[in-house]
Amino acid sequence: MSESSPLRGRDGESALIGRLLSAAARGEGSILVIEGPAGFGKTRLLRSAVERAAAAGIRTGWGGAEDGGQAAALMTLMSALFTGPEPLLDRAKLRELPSAPEQRFWLVQELAELLEAAALASPLLICLDDLQWADPGTLAAVRSLPEQLADLPIVWMVALRPEGAAGHLLAVDDAQRLAGECLEAAQAHGYPLRAWMAQELQALLAAACGDHDAVRELTGQMIRWALPRGIVQARLAAHHASSLAALGRGDFEEAYQEAAAISPPGILASHVPYALRVPMDLVEAAVRTGRHREAIAHVAAMRQADLTRMSPRLAMLTSASAALAASSRGLASPHGPCSATS
Ligand SMILES: Nc1ncnc2c1ncn2[C@@H]1O[C@H](COP(=O)(O)OP(=O)(O)OP(=O)(O)O)[C@@H](O)[C@H]1O
Ligand SMILES: [Mg+2]
Repeated sequence: MSESSPLRGRDGESALIGRLLSAAARGEGSILVIEGPAGFGKTRLLRSAVERAAAAGIRTGWGGAEDGGQAAALMTLMSALFTGPEPLLDRAKLRELPSAPEQRFWLVQELAELLEAAALASPLLICLDDLQWADPGTLAAVRSLPEQLADLPIVWMVALRPEGAAGHLLAVDDAQRLAGECLEAAQAHGYPLRAWMAQELQALLAAACGDHDAVRELTGQMIRWALPRGIVQARLAAHHASSLAALGRGDFEEAYQEAAAISPPGILASHVPYALRVPMDLVEAAVRTGRHREAIAHVAAMRQADLTRMSPRLAMLTSASAALAASSRGLASPHGPCSATS
């Protein structure tokens, strides 16, 4: 839909939208959240993105939530995917999708698969407007799908007013509820490998909230389940959550042991994704427990693995770890109790 008057005073936003669309054309995905009060120009920005995407050959879908109009599950998202003159997903697939409320998790997984196939064929722009009125299913899907499909050229643009859903988008209790639902669904349908992933989420959330008893219980369950079955990833996930929780409460010795169980100091274990989640935790815990040599050795391993080239985040972690290790020089004797904890 074209607007008659030109877009005014939005150079920064327009440039950002241009960059995200160009990145999508190169195969990269992104999510843009536009938050502002009524009349702020959110819908207008989304519309201009749709026009530019169409001009760049990027397929677009549009779903707008309505005040009080949340009749069907995932309605806003489904409109964006299955409506319009050229729907992003094949409408014939609609009939095959699980529709019962208890199958919501699987519906989102099916949508993820369909979106993956569509995005592999051509980049997509998915606009979701007025998210403050969206149904809970759409909100839950918007929290999980962009991350799940992060490697694909899908640009998610969501607009919402600051009230209502804005707070819920990041609410921890919502995240905990979803992780609980995921665990229940995995257990009910006999997917134990999915179950530990849900427990991992619960443990990470508990660690973030400082609920150390919950972390211990969940990670204990995960390890008791994983060890006899030889499921290494589940055991490492438990060590990761335990390490974060220990760091959070200042128990650096335990944080060190838990992080070192994933990847020992000086070694960035290959083919172990969790090794990339704890390198700075390991260095921090080593510094805080007086293990200067180990801290330096781990920074050297990070540099040798060339983490800085893998992502800006890993580059930042490497620099921060190096700074931490350097700051510990001369602070404490190797393996002695740390004198510089605070
Ligand atoms: N940057 C702009 N330049 C010119 N006109 C604009 C601009 N932004 C918004 N407008 C106009 O202002 C009016 C309100 O904008 P819009 O509908 O996009 O607001 P909104 O943030 O989506 O509000 P709501 O929360 O009520 O949906 C529209 O007529 C729109 O065309
Ligand atoms: Mg609007």
